[in-house]
Amino acid sequence: MKLNKEYHNLAKDILENEYYLTLKNDAHHGSNRYDHCKRVSYVSFIMAKMFKGNTNDVVISGLLHDFYYGKCNANDKITYLNHPRTSVNNSLKYFDLNENEINIIETHMYHYALVKNLLPFINKDDKVKAREYKPQSKEGYIVCLSDLLVSIFEVFHFKVRYTTCLYFIFLINIIRY
Ligand SMILES: [Fe+2]
Ligand SMILES: [Fe+2]
Repeated sequence: MKLNKEYHNLAKDILENEYYLTLKNDAHHGSNRYDHCKRVSYVSFIMAKMFKGNTNDVVISGLLHDFYYGKCNANDKITYLNHPRTSVNNSLKYFDLNENEINIIETHMYHYALVKNLLPFINKDDKVKAREYKPQSKEGYIVCLSDLLVSIFEVFHFKVRYTTCLYFIFLINIIRY
């Protein structure tokens, strides 16, 4: 309870911002981008507590790490690799960020850059050097790892729900006929 209150105090200005609230309209990993960012921010907050990181920086950058509109790779404007920069630009329109927070957002796709270096055939057109996305702080690694864990959880959760629904419809049809 005390943790939730501390988290809310750090996050509320962003969570209640009218432009930020519009992220609720953007689909993301089977839910919406607002919820995704909030989850990443909260998991980062808990991890920062565990590893004695700066809780304020991870909460702010966790919330803003995917502050962009539209779908990734749906067109050339927003890609897996450039959306961190877009998110920083959007964030700076409405919020004050320190250098660490900016760097955390810019490097949160380090997990993707590492995978791309190991398996270059994934999204062939995205050329990347992993070291350019290397986080510069402990908080950067925390947000990057939280983003990866939350994304895996969300995609898995969505697939389970989706498959359950399909089986349910299938079953209803069998019973009906
Ligand atoms: Fe992202
Ligand atoms: Fe994300």
